[in-house]
Amino acid sequence: MEEKPKFKTVQEVVAANEGLPERYLQQLTGDHEDQPLNGPVPEMDIPSIDLSLLLSFSEEGQQELSKLHSALSKWGVVQVMNHGITEAFLDKIYKLTKQFFALPTEEKQKYARDIGNVQGYGSDMIFSDDQILDWIDRLFLTTYPEDQQHLKFWPEVPTGFRETLHEYTMKQHAVIGQFFKGMARSLDLEDNVFLEMHGENARMDTRFNMYPPCPRPDMVIGAKPHGDGSAFTLLLPDKDVEGLQFLKDGKWYKAPIVPDTILINVGDLMEIMSNGIYKSPIHRVVTNREKERISVATFCVPSPDKEIQPVEGLVSETRPRLYKTVKKYVELYFDSYQQGLRPIEAAL
Ligand code: SIN
Ligand code: FE2
Repeated sequence: MEEKPKFKTVQEVVAANEGLPERYLQQLTGDHEDQPLNGPVPEMDIPSIDLSLLLSFSEEGQQELSKLHSALSKWGVVQVMNHGITEAFLDKIYKLTKQFFALPTEEKQKYARDIGNVQGYGSDMIFSDDQILDWIDRLFLTTYPEDQQHLKFWPEVPTGFRETLHEYTMKQHAVIGQFFKGMARSLDLEDNVFLEMHGENARMDTRFNMYPPCPRPDMVIGAKPHGDGSAFTLLLPDKDVEGLQFLKDGKWYKAPIVPDTILINVGDLMEIMSNGIYKSPIHRVVTNREKERISVATFCVPSPDKEIQPVEGLVSETRPRLYKTVKKYVELYFDSYQQGLRPIEAAL
């Protein structure tokens, strides 16, 4: 689908002070009656997994593996602690993200993405005139492998942004490898099955998200309900401002804020590889009237030549294969997503 010409970023809409454009207003249906958009929601009950123990072949390791199995099959989400990234380093990421979005528009526009291309700085992508827009601005960068980085989109200000992102990428790369192995082990599979299917040179995309304060949290959404098109996603949610919610059995729950942890949610590709045992959860972000919210999400995307399908060990007579083989899922994902469909259904 062709992207429509650029619209203002949300920060520009706010700065223009011309009221709230109609194209951000949700058409709320009866679904929301029980849980209005800005109403209270219960907190989800997800464990923190100690990554340093997960692959340890000890009794504690076994406990972490069973916590992981239970959280990913029930919610598709876990918190990860002892991930090897210091709190000071995570603070630096948060600070640089805030500093980037606080720059004057002209400075940020130096990194503006091109129409139809996801990389760079800008608003929600617009594919039709009647699309209801998310209240979000973002900076999207492919960070790995290095030859796929487009450095022209990597901010030179704030100072240290590029170096810190390079460093963060390498640190996350280590976490990703361990997490893939942990998921395999938690399903009684050989450690490398998912890593091999996903590809040694798999891509990492990091998206810096900014949700400015919104005058109508009851009518406007920060990120519309979606499942991720990744294998899984590493997320640093805002440290103070809530907003991320997950859907379970038709009901929304808010993600807790747990300092010093990384939140990991399963994406569609892991749901496919695990033959539906690990769930790619639907999630959304609600807006806040007073406070801006930031988050940093890293998507693990397989190499484009890789065929993704349920792994052999998880298909049996009692558990028939649920998904087809998919290739270049990202393309299929964006197409279905823009049509308001659930992309993973195309793989059924
Ligand atoms: C997303 O999943 O699209 C964003 C998550 C967040 O901002 O917390
Ligand atoms: Fe997401």
